[in-house]
Amino acid sequence: MSNIIVVGVQWGDEGKGKVIDFLSEKADIIVRYQGGNNAGHTVIVNGEKFVLHLIPSGILHPDKICIIGQGVVFNPKAFFQEIESLKERNVAINDDLLYISEDTHLIMPYHLSVEETSEKIHKIGTTGRGVGPAYTDKINRCGIKVIDLFDEDIFEEKLQINLVQKGNKFDLTSIKNEYLGYAKELKKYVKNTSLFLNEAIKNDKNILFEGAQGTLLDVDHGTYPYVTSSNATAGGACTGTGVGPTKIDRVIGVMKAYSTRVGEGPFPTELPSELGEAIRIKGREYGATTNRPRRCGWLDTVALKYAVRINGIDSLAITKLDVLNELETIKMCIGYEYQGQIIKEFPKSLKVLRECQPIYEELPGWQKEISHIRSYNDLPEQLKDYLARINEIIEVKFKFISVGPQRDQTILLDSFFVGR
Ligand code: GDP
Ligand code: IMO
Ligand code: MG
Repeated sequence: MSNIIVVGVQWGDEGKGKVIDFLSEKADIIVRYQGGNNAGHTVIVNGEKFVLHLIPSGILHPDKICIIGQGVVFNPKAFFQEIESLKERNVAINDDLLYISEDTHLIMPYHLSVEETSEKIHKIGTTGRGVGPAYTDKINRCGIKVIDLFDEDIFEEKLQINLVQKGNKFDLTSIKNEYLGYAKELKKYVKNTSLFLNEAIKNDKNILFEGAQGTLLDVDHGTYPYVTSSNATAGGACTGTGVGPTKIDRVIGVMKAYSTRVGEGPFPTELPSELGEAIRIKGREYGATTNRPRRCGWLDTVALKYAVRINGIDSLAITKLDVLNELETIKMCIGYEYQGQIIKEFPKSLKVLRECQPIYEELPGWQKEISHIRSYNDLPEQLKDYLARINEIIEVKFKFISVGPQRDQTILLDSFFVGR
């Protein structure tokens, strides 16, 4: 059996959806462990594009169990909308194979409104889905969990406390009616998912832990305060599902062949230039959730090395190499210059990071179409050199090479699951 965490190693949107979808074929269970519908995970199957926000990216494999773990913040309205839009597109959703943890905290209507106000005071550039305020209430011990929906008295009591705390600006009856309405529909999905997952592990099932966002957006390890409000890193997979660390076999880091970021915050290798724009256009770098243009830049191996360490990454998946096909030369950041000194470790001070100037190494581009290639040996030599140089610096091997958004545009160098 193999239990595998799939984690983003940059600022999100690395292509986790594609990797999860691909690996789902050999998994039994796919579980989301943090974040909410701020995520946008794109999966393309037979030319058809699906963007998953809350439901695990394994859902397009009809026989797999998909779980929303208790580390997620859950907006029931968004959940039902996602189910409906998948059903409309003929995705068979088997209600018996989709579970939500009883302990998952709810995103409430007031969380969206709190976030809107807070963005006006201190702009983070959030996705506006109420994720931060929902986690704030969780940590502040006044959050409302999915399980609370099934006891009207408890739900009303908790709601009342929350509305008082938020200055009595919201109508209790309408929120109560809306959410108790969802409760009826949700009941069939709700389960003790930690118990279920641990039983599945005893029965040698293969589990994929699907990370949302990315390492540099992690609330503890990212570029705080320009982060999301959860642990997107591998550690979050354990706390977010109730599966202990001794049960995890591998941690796969997903990285893009260059860097992108949405929202505010430092980004040392950003290319606010024509080249950045060209990468955005070729890579279709527009947010899968908010459609905002993503900021684009060169690969940053200082940040990557940091992500490898924080997550304990033992193998890497790289995506979007094809976006670089036409470039004559490709730059890679191998260190930062800060006040005349060379820095090789990702700085913890945001002030320092903002002042860091990337030190680049320039490599020849491959200037060839690669989207049709399905074997490592057929890849252009310059591309292999690019990968080898990344390997050398960050000391982790690539096992999954993506040369296009489609499921089959993948070169797998090793099986991730023992015996499958
Ligand atoms: P996620 O949030 O990590 O799942 O990534 P997103 O779905 O937000 O963004 C990744 C985008 O890149 C999606 O539009 C994918 O369809 C696309 N994609 C994934 N892998 C590749 C690849 O190898 N080449 C290209 N051109 N696009 C890719
Ligand atoms: P996936 O899972 C990229 C960014 C937002 C903002 C910051 C905080 O698709 O990789 P939030 O709404 O979470 O409070 O916003 O985090 N952000 C993402 N950026 N990919 C994501 O998810 C993101 N989810 C949040 O743009 O900068
Ligand atoms: Mg995304």
